[in-house]
Amino acid sequence: MNTMEINKIVAGVICAVLLVIVVGKIGGALVHPDELEAPVYPFSEDLMAGASPNAAAASAEPAGPEPILAMLASADLAEGEKVFKKCASCHDVEKDGPNKTGPNLYGIVGAAFAHKGDFAYSDSMANHGGSWGFEELNEFLYKPRDYIDGTKMSFGGLKKASDRAAVIAWLNSKSDSPLPFPDPAAAAEQGAAEEAAAPAEGEATAQ
Ligand code: HEC
Repeated sequence: MNTMEINKIVAGVICAVLLVIVVGKIGGALVHPDELEAPVYPFSEDLMAGASPNAAAASAEPAGPEPILAMLASADLAEGEKVFKKCASCHDVEKDGPNKTGPNLYGIVGAAFAHKGDFAYSDSMANHGGSWGFEELNEFLYKPRDYIDGTKMSFGGLKKASDRAAVIAWLNSKSDSPLPFPDPAAAAEQGAAEEAAAPAEGEATAQ
């Protein structure tokens, strides 16, 4: 092999290297990759510490419905009747009225769960046990499916505490023996105590 040939090889290698560099520069000049401002997968300190992503979401949401006991005594019954329009497609509320898609609700406040002998309840409702006090109704009407898993009442729920208080107070009036409303001051205290206990409860039930 003479020097001439070695020179050619060296020149060839240098040319190849130059070509790669030039093509790289041109490519870089033509293509501007968009950098994401934030990583697509949200890394939070909680996640790094090994907490499940749901725990963060759960603590951001209230653990349950706002208590309404203290609001009942001053609830607006006319407003309650208006709110009941959302229920009226499925529920009659007159004495001796018929069942519709849902059972007749006359006298429901204070009555047993699944209070109508002539209505075909879901198993979850039929086997629940207990009775419909103000607090049970508050929980149920907030999110029926959360309170009674497997209920066949397909209703999203009443998110506004004032709506629940009004409709429950009005339902209470649709009865042979309406229950007395709790004393607002005592109820407010109880409500506050419950709310303080609620987050712990929420954590225990979150999976
Ligand atoms: C789409 C129809 C539908 C709507 C709307 C609806 N319900 Fe119901 N409701 C039902 C059905 C069906 C049941 C029986 C549930 C079961 O057996 O699981 C029921 C059950 C109930 C019960 C339990 C009755 C008992 O005898 O134990 C209450 C209380 C109740 N509904 C209140 C309401 C109120 C108040 C509203 C409006 C805010 C409402 N429902 C809206 C269909 C409905």
